[in-house]
Amino acid sequence: MVVHNGIFENYLDLKRELADEGHIFNSQTDAECIPHLIESYMNNGCSLEEATRAAASRIDGANAVVVLSRKEPDKIVSFKLGNAGGIVIGYGESEMLLASDIAALLPHVRTVAYLAVGEMATVTRKRVQYTRIDGSAVKKSTARVSYGALTATKGEYKHFMLKEIHEQPDAVLDTLRGRVQFDPPGITLPDFPFSDDRIRSFNRAIIIGMGTSLHAGMVGRMWIESLAGLACEVDNSSEFRYRDAVLDENTLVISISQSGETADTLGAMDLAKSRGARQLTLCNYEGTQSTRVADGVLPIRAGLEISVAGTKTFVCSLVTLYALAAYLGVKRGYLSEERLANIVQELLHLPEMIGQLLSDQSQYERLALKYGRRANFLFLGRGKNYPLAMEGALKLKEISYIHAEGYPAGEMKHGPISLIDRKMPVVALVPQDDLYEKMLSNVNEVKARRGSVVAVAAEGDKHISEKADEVIWIPKASANITPILNAIPMQLLAYYIAVERGCDVDQPRNLAKSVTVE
Ligand code: F6R
Repeated sequence: MVVHNGIFENYLDLKRELADEGHIFNSQTDAECIPHLIESYMNNGCSLEEATRAAASRIDGANAVVVLSRKEPDKIVSFKLGNAGGIVIGYGESEMLLASDIAALLPHVRTVAYLAVGEMATVTRKRVQYTRIDGSAVKKSTARVSYGALTATKGEYKHFMLKEIHEQPDAVLDTLRGRVQFDPPGITLPDFPFSDDRIRSFNRAIIIGMGTSLHAGMVGRMWIESLAGLACEVDNSSEFRYRDAVLDENTLVISISQSGETADTLGAMDLAKSRGARQLTLCNYEGTQSTRVADGVLPIRAGLEISVAGTKTFVCSLVTLYALAAYLGVKRGYLSEERLANIVQELLHLPEMIGQLLSDQSQYERLALKYGRRANFLFLGRGKNYPLAMEGALKLKEISYIHAEGYPAGEMKHGPISLIDRKMPVVALVPQDDLYEKMLSNVNEVKARRGSVVAVAAEGDKHISEKADEVIWIPKASANITPILNAIPMQLLAYYIAVERGCDVDQPRNLAKSVTVE
């Protein structure tokens, strides 16, 4: 029996060869070819391990495979080719476990190891032997997972997503722990891999990621520009990896992947490495593939996230990026002591402000009843909150299946405004920053076309309550920190609408927590 994740690129050639040998196929899948290939080697006298090794060396493409055979029932053999699918091995008491994701193992084990690309594991009840596919030995170190088994249960919550939303104040505290000093104000990143001279030599940064991690990166870019004075671009990993990106050793590539196993981000990191860029990765899990490829890791420390929709990993990625931008700003001599002191002071209050946003959720239930049956939503934001409009739209569409678009509000007049009528709810992010007046005029434009406006605005903003149909209040905060706060209403709105529509919140259709194939 074979469990397969990936794409077996040359399977048609091998299938033809195996069919000529007499193997009978019951499907058109590439996966079915793998057990036949292994069986063919076993028929010629190979052990399960030898046969799997021989088969693995003939498979092209990125594939993660687990193999069992009735002929050797006390053994599981697994291998990983290219960046497809994680294989995590859990060390239990008198038992070993294999899974594609650490979440499945956590109720049972705390010690794990990850298979790297080109590696094989032969697992029996009490031990595991690691080799490369070419047969050479591998010395593997294990990682101790600090999240307790309890975190893999829903506890008092109806869904993991809601539980994980509620965990954000504590998760943010963990992200900040040991990184922010208050007296004197300072940001320390103990694991930062580059010397101060190297930091000063960077003439540009490029942030890469997918989905929610990409949205975090879009905000991170603006922080890096404004706090560190470093030119910064942001790109979707799946685009970046196939572009002819111009990179050199003075380019800092920052990848964001909570899972550390997203195929496109890993592909983009491989490209960056081959072109000599320096790499930093933000990740939630120690020992995953992205942490092995990068020169250094900034753990986001969100704790285990089970729901497919990223929530606390998004917020913790944002907080880590904010700290990183301030750190680079200090090292580059760009961030004044006064600005640093303000940043530190505000970070001190961040978990409390997030807690405040979570304290009363009745408003979201009401909004879900009012707008949950609409067919379309628009999300608008500007500046650092434009990526939050994208994130709000992504959260809503992925878990409630409502069509939603996130736009920089300035784009409205260039097309989307024609969609607005009385059936269109528009979620407008209107923090009191230097783009406030411009956002207000976007709200006016929506109202003039009879759209409904749900504004997300700073407490005490009287203008907005006169204009919008509904207002979700966020605590007063600096412009820099509003994207982190605005993440919470985006999550709660999507969550309550999905619940109202009876959707499978934690496991939306067609989606996977780690997208390990491109
Ligand atoms: C959406 C979501 C996805 C992920 C994306 C990247 O809620 O979670 O868009 O953000 O698949 O995943 P990672 O961060 O693991 O690389």
